[in-house]
Amino acid sequence: MTRRFSESENHVTPKSMFLNRRQIMQGAGALAMTSMISPLVAAKTANAPNWLNRKINSTVYRSVDTDDSVTDAYDTQRYNNFYEFGTGKDDPVKNAGDFNPYPWEISVSGLCDKPGVLSLEDLVTSSQTEERIYRLRCVEAWSMVVPWTGIQLSSLLRRFQPNSKAKYVAFETIVRKEEMPGQRDRFSFIEWPYVEGLRMDEAFHPLAFLAIGMYGEALPVQNGAPIRLVVPWKYGFKSIKSIVGIRFVDQQPPTTWNLAAPREYGFYSNVNPGRSHPRWSQATERRFGADGKIDRIPTQLFNGYSEVAGLYKDMDLKLFY
Ligand code: MTE
Repeated sequence: MTRRFSESENHVTPKSMFLNRRQIMQGAGALAMTSMISPLVAAKTANAPNWLNRKINSTVYRSVDTDDSVTDAYDTQRYNNFYEFGTGKDDPVKNAGDFNPYPWEISVSGLCDKPGVLSLEDLVTSSQTEERIYRLRCVEAWSMVVPWTGIQLSSLLRRFQPNSKAKYVAFETIVRKEEMPGQRDRFSFIEWPYVEGLRMDEAFHPLAFLAIGMYGEALPVQNGAPIRLVVPWKYGFKSIKSIVGIRFVDQQPPTTWNLAAPREYGFYSNVNPGRSHPRWSQATERRFGADGKIDRIPTQLFNGYSEVAGLYKDMDLKLFY
């Protein structure tokens, strides 16, 4: 289902193509219409620095596309999972206002020859950015189709020269209790920071991606500003947001949802319609489409990204869930 364009037709869609009826209505007036996004979303991206906006605006190459309709930005930016800002779907957009993602640094450490700290500005300005339209399938059985702008994960990891002892990559989200109300919740069942991990070969797969933007704009806070992982063949919780730490390790690292409910959420978490969640089926999903349409559609193995199958050829995916 994933469609790749040939060189001659791979330029990104102008931002205006993502405009949809609901956003125009939301925008309520010519001013909001010219900014292409609703006022609420604009508020959450307004402080993105010029170097970031410039880089995103000058991204002209789209390397992965799909025939599926792109989800309204209205839905992708208001129906979120980001427990640092609360557990309700609209908590992230409502509670993100105090979080300032700029400036930002990522520390890369562990089993590599060149550990170090990289500023987001250095990473973004020195990297080749591209747009990729990916399906995102949440373990809760809803899905969206999102145009991300970003950088292939492998190109960041390579800079730090992981050595042969590195078997996994561990990722960590920022902890900022003053700005993230979910981290102040005494009853939270999540131990902060939110952590995730990939096997080295998964992390170096060309589809593994770091997003810095969506719909041709800097990432809104509720979607993981200023930089988040996107691993389209795995359930959405693997796509960790607001990353500050990356570590090359030799053991499978702990992951937040596996720590919270090990029987329900495994380390691999590949999208798999053949393995039900203990409490619900994964055979179908609710797809948020264009113009607010929600359809029930069949779920595909690896979310349709069959090119990753080789990574798991010797594994029983029902055991390694
Ligand atoms: N990253 C952090 N740090 N905290 C979270 O709560 N939620 C995950 C993932 N990344 C989460 C996170 C889950 S469950 C999903 S489905 C996706 O983010 C949702 O991404 P979206 O809100 O951009 O759709």
